[in-house]
Amino acid sequence: MTKHLIDWKFWEKQEIINLMELAVKVKKCRWDYQGLMNGNSLAMIFQKTSTRTRISFEACMAEMGGHSIYMDWLTSNFMLSSIRLETKYICRNVAFIVTRFKDNKDLLEMASASEVPVINGCCNLYHPCQALTDLLTIKLDCGYLEGVNLTYVGVYNNVVNSLVSICGAFKVNLTLVCPIKDASITDEESYQKLIKQGLLHETLDLQEAVAKADYVYTDTWMDMEFFNDPAFAKQKKNRVSLMEPYQLNHQTLKNSSAKVMHDMPIHLGYEISEALVEDDKRSIIFDQAENRLEAQKALLIYLKGRKSF
Ligand code: CP
Repeated sequence: MTKHLIDWKFWEKQEIINLMELAVKVKKCRWDYQGLMNGNSLAMIFQKTSTRTRISFEACMAEMGGHSIYMDWLTSNFMLSSIRLETKYICRNVAFIVTRFKDNKDLLEMASASEVPVINGCCNLYHPCQALTDLLTIKLDCGYLEGVNLTYVGVYNNVVNSLVSICGAFKVNLTLVCPIKDASITDEESYQKLIKQGLLHETLDLQEAVAKADYVYTDTWMDMEFFNDPAFAKQKKNRVSLMEPYQLNHQTLKNSSAKVMHDMPIHLGYEISEALVEDDKRSIIFDQAENRLEAQKALLIYLKGRKSF
């Protein structure tokens, strides 16, 4: 059966642990994998904008001797036909498909039609490549994951769902400070599983949460496709007003020695202050972003190893 990455909740714990070990190895020896993807192509089907996901997957394939093909949804013939039929064609050409879909249902439809691994490069519900990178970043920074206190401050979103579904495999303590939580987004099954494991805590006491954190992580307060959309200006205003006290800055982190994380793109002056991003020694944001490449290189190697192409 073809192995896809929709979210970590669909992977066995041991598979995730093995993949993380591989990602650590890849990070240490980035150039040891040259030629591994010779003759293989990766199709990237994106309905939304991207910098890191696109750049890092393309760089992964180039560094390993493979090729990547980027397709903007609007200029493809997915616009004219069905996801199933177009996917059945694409997977006769390429070894992997990476998607950025607005709706997880479309991703599931593609995965069910694909004979090659489909990797979720972010959908409305999950962002598994980001969550893998986040834990890889922590492991590389402090050497271990078990017992680490990771505090996420912001809106409960797709990144949170994927953190909730991966943290259990490594016994990471996840604290959520999320004043806005959309029930239609929340993956209740993964959430309850992590609660049962005693690894998930929720609070709105920001000071207490950041004081005990080893890592503090934040993300955009608005979905990327709506951030600059005038139709969502009112929602944005309301959110900014509600979320402002939760901005990561020198004041809110005055009692914290935690390292600071952000998955980027950053909205300066919204979820995080400018001074914290580049000039504060606690920021590991650019290391985190860089690690997308090695995390995804490991993912491609792992998926390729399951089947000969
Ligand atoms: N973090 C992330 O996925 O970045 P992009 O949206 O730029 O790909």
